[in-house]
Amino acid sequence: MSGHGDGHAGGPGTESAAEAVVRAATGDDVPAVQALWRTAGLQPLDDGELVATLGHGPGLLVVADVPGAGVVGVVLGTFDGRRGWVHRLAVHPGHRRGGLASALVSDLERRLRERGARRVNLLVLPDNAGALRFWQRRGYLPCPDVLHTKPLP
Ligand SMILES: CC(C)(COP(=O)(O)OP(=O)(O)OC[C@H]1O[C@@H](n2cnc3c(N)ncnc32)[C@H](O)[C@@H]1OP(=O)(O)O)[C@@H](O)C(=O)NCCC(=O)NCCS
Repeated sequence: MSGHGDGHAGGPGTESAAEAVVRAATGDDVPAVQALWRTAGLQPLDDGELVATLGHGPGLLVVADVPGAGVVGVVLGTFDGRRGWVHRLAVHPGHRRGGLASALVSDLERRLRERGARRVNLLVLPDNAGALRFWQRRGYLPCPDVLHTKPLP
């Protein structure tokens, strides 16, 4: 594994994880990232919203790039000046259980820490058993707060 990731070998995706370069995405990666989110069953972001998010927090869209396969993993981070937030972690189905998501999250955590974040939050759907298990393994624990949301006109 190149870059700052720390993924460990150990599953069907082992070979990809070992060869992956974990790096900050550029504007050129946006179509591949959107396609990957779709493939992984996550809602793609509106292109304009994604570009605005990147402008607000440069270097916090992190991808795993495998030679010959391209962008097979992605995670989006944001920093609100106090907390880090993690959004839309996804690994291509053909490259899972090889440590790619772990490497992406480690790299993003380092980037958020460098910006001053001392805690990272994320939202995960309660029926996403695989993701819940993954986040628990990474040390992310549920908290009792209830999300409230309101669209602004
Ligand atoms: C969740 C996801 C990102 C994990 O990616 P990954 O590259 O396979 O994860 P890793 O290989 O780094 O997994 C590390 C550890 O997390 C746990 N884990 C990961 N996926 C798991 C699953 N589906 N079920 C149970 N445990 C899982 C395991 O303990 C795993 O270690 P192991 O393979 O040695 O047992 C991937 O399954 C995915 O893209 N899912 C669809 C999108 C999604 O739900 N995203 C999360 C939104 S909150």
